[in-house]
This record gives sequence, structure tokens and C-alpha cells, in this order.
Amino acid sequence: MQNFEFYNPVNIVFGQGQIRKLGKLVPNDTKIMLAYGGGSIFKNGVYDQVKAALPGYHLIEFGGIEPNPHYETLMKAVEIVKTEKIGFILAVGGGSVLDGVKFIAAAALWVGEDPWEFLTNRSLTVTRAIPIGSIITLPATGSEMNGNSVVTRLSTQEKLAFNADAVLPVFSILDPTTVFSLPEKQVANGVVDAFVHVIEQYLTYPVNSPIQDRFAESILVTLVEEGPKVLANRTDYDSAANFMWAATMALNGLIGAGVPQDWATHTIGHELTAFYNIDHARTLAIVLPGIMQVKRESKQEKLLQFGERVWGIKAGTSDERIDATIARTVAFFESVGIPTKLSAYNIGSDFIKVVCDRFIQRGIKGIGERGDLTVPQIAEVLTLQL
Ligand code: NZQ
Ligand code: ZN
Repeated sequence: MQNFEFYNPVNIVFGQGQIRKLGKLVPNDTKIMLAYGGGSIFKNGVYDQVKAALPGYHLIEFGGIEPNPHYETLMKAVEIVKTEKIGFILAVGGGSVLDGVKFIAAAALWVGEDPWEFLTNRSLTVTRAIPIGSIITLPATGSEMNGNSVVTRLSTQEKLAFNADAVLPVFSILDPTTVFSLPEKQVANGVVDAFVHVIEQYLTYPVNSPIQDRFAESILVTLVEEGPKVLANRTDYDSAANFMWAATMALNGLIGAGVPQDWATHTIGHELTAFYNIDHARTLAIVLPGIMQVKRESKQEKLLQFGERVWGIKAGTSDERIDATIARTVAFFESVGIPTKLSAYNIGSDFIKVVCDRFIQRGIKGIGERGDLTVPQIAEVLTLQL
């Protein structure tokens, strides 16, 4: 196992009815920005619960944070935070709202020229942010228990991430009944996003880390078992709860501590969203099978372990087992309604050069757990998925 530090101070408040506890969790001596997305919180009653839980609090609402939150929108909120002297930001919605709030919280205290620089310049670190809390209404990103944020800048068609302890939520409320109002597409997206988060921290090479491996496998198996139940019956509380907790555990630092991490699927997937606005999880379902194929040798041991422990594939030569493992993973994505080929999204081969040029332009030589997925190999991955 590799050396690691694991720091996660997020207070998780889990379960039905927990939004009632908001009054004890947010400060009442400062102005609070209540940030939300396109309006789902008005339809499913979450907004009413928030208002009821915060009587007499000074709330300033900021709505309209879009999926794949836009820098252009978030900067409007930054201005309001500064002029109104907001002291706490409450994100109510999916990962996009929460990621957007993390950016707003950091940007409001950023002393440099333009906050966009902490996404483009890896040597810059965010050390200060307005404190934030969240009510997450879509199990998927794990944003509720991590310091990551992904922001899209429309003017340059860039989708970039930053990570900072300063933007870890003070608390996150996870009420599984919020899953009840999710459209089928968003449940499927959430299952696949969480699944791939685990894969990015697991499907690398062995470092003798049985705790991390078995935690990771338990999350994968839970997603495979519970995801279809949630799709079939949205108001099945127990399945919603298991799905929600699985998504949080998939990216809160626990399974990634002390092990190599890949993230090539996400890095390439973000370009698909930046150029074609494809839902995040769908980009992952497209890219991952290609990466498994192109990196089948360097990932061989973990591919075999994954196949055996998650899909029960035990028979055949190593090559046959790896083929079956990739096929089984693709079949799972397709079974929840997510196509894995670029053609299903009307994207042709022209796109491959566009993506590769961008990686070259950024000076990226290689990505993945060994930094050896080169630009020509990225082209190979995408060609396999045409
Ligand atoms: O905007 P509203 O009206 O709220 O509707 C949203 C949105 O249209 C809707 N929704 C959310 N909760 C709902 C609901 N509809 C009905 N009932 C509910 N309970 O779902 C739509 C999608 O929401 P979004 O927040 O965009 O989805 P998700 O949570 O999947 O977030 C995706 C974003 O997170 C980033 C992605 O890149 C993408 O930008 N990621 C963030 C990560 C992190 N912070 O660690 C890691 C991930 O890898 C990911 O990259
Ligand atoms: Zn993701």
C-alpha cells in the first residue's frame, strides 16, 4: 500500500426527514446564499422543506445553476456574494449545483486576477473559501463529501476541475426520498458515474491493498444490485438509500487512499461534454470500455480480479476472461439505458482529432495511473468506441 493522508471532516446527515435539522447546521448570524439549479427543488418539495427549516434566517436565493455549471453563471453569484457579504452558501440540488457553489465560495475570496486561473493553473491552490453546506438531491458525483468541483467555461469550450480542502462542505444532508423525483435518465447517469468513480480508483495495478479493493468491490456490487431496483421503482426507499450511500462512498477519498488512481476516463470524458454537451456519466460509459481494451495488459491483474469478484467470471484463459469482463461492463451500462458507442450520440471520427489536438496543446504527454496513456492511445480508445 502507498503512503497516504486521509482527511474528511464532512458531517453527513443521512435519512428521511433530515432536512428538518438544517436550522442546527447553518449559522444564523450571517446572510446565507441558497443556491439551486433549474427548478427541480420547487417541484419535489425540497425547497419548501428548506424554507420551513430556516424560519427567520436571512436567505438570498440564487437559482439557474445549470448542469455542468457554467463559469459565466457562477461569476454572477460571486458578485452577489461579495456585494451582499454572504457568510455561508447552501447548495440544494445535484452535483452541478454543489460544484458550482464550491467554485463560487472559492472565487469570492480569490485575490488573483480571474478565479478561472485556479482551474487552468495547477500550481495555484485554493486555500480560502466561504463555508458551504449541501442538500444533495442526486446520488452520482460524491461532491457532497469531497473537495472536487468541475466547471465549464462556455466561451472557451473548456471543462476543468479543481480540488481543495477549503471547499469541503461543512455538512451534507442526504435524504434518499429526493431520489423519488429523479427522471430515469438521471438515475442511470448517477449509477454509471458512481460506478466509474470506483473503477478509476480500483482498476489500476495491485499494491496489496485488500481493504480498499474489497470496499471498492462492495460499492460496485451494490450499484449493480440496487441501481436497477431504483430504476424499476423510484419510491423504494431502501434501494434509494443504498444507491445514495454507494454514490457518496464512491468518491469521498476512502477507497482511493493509498492506491494508484487512473482518471483517464474522466479526463477524456470531460472533453466530450465540453464539445458536445453529452451528460457526464454518458461520456464515461463511452470512454471506459475503450480504455479497458487498450490498457488490458497493464491492467490485467485488476481486470481479472474485477471480473471474478464483481461479475463472477472465473472460467477461461486470461484473455477470454478479460473479454468477458469488458463485455459484461458494457452490457451493464447498456442495461440501464446508457449507450456506449459514439455513433449513438451522432459523433463521428472528426471529434478524435479535436480531442487529441487539445491534449497536445495542453502539453499532456500521457494520462492514467502510470501516465502512459499517450495521445495516440487516446485516439485508439475513441476509435474503438466509434
Ligand atoms: O437543475 P435542476 O432543476 O435541479 O435539475 C437537475 C438537472 O437537470 C436534475 N435533478 C437533480 N436532482 C433532482 C433532479 N430532478 C428531479 N429530482 C431531483 N431530486 O438533474 C439534472 C442533472 O443534475 P446535475 O447536478 O447536473 O447532475 P449530477 O449530480 O450528475 O452532476 C454532474 C456534474 O458533476 C460533475 C460533472 O462533471 C457534472 O458537471 N462531477 C463532479 C464531481 C465531483 N464534484 O467530485 C465528480 C464527477 O466525476 C463529476 O465530474
Ligand atoms: Zn464522474
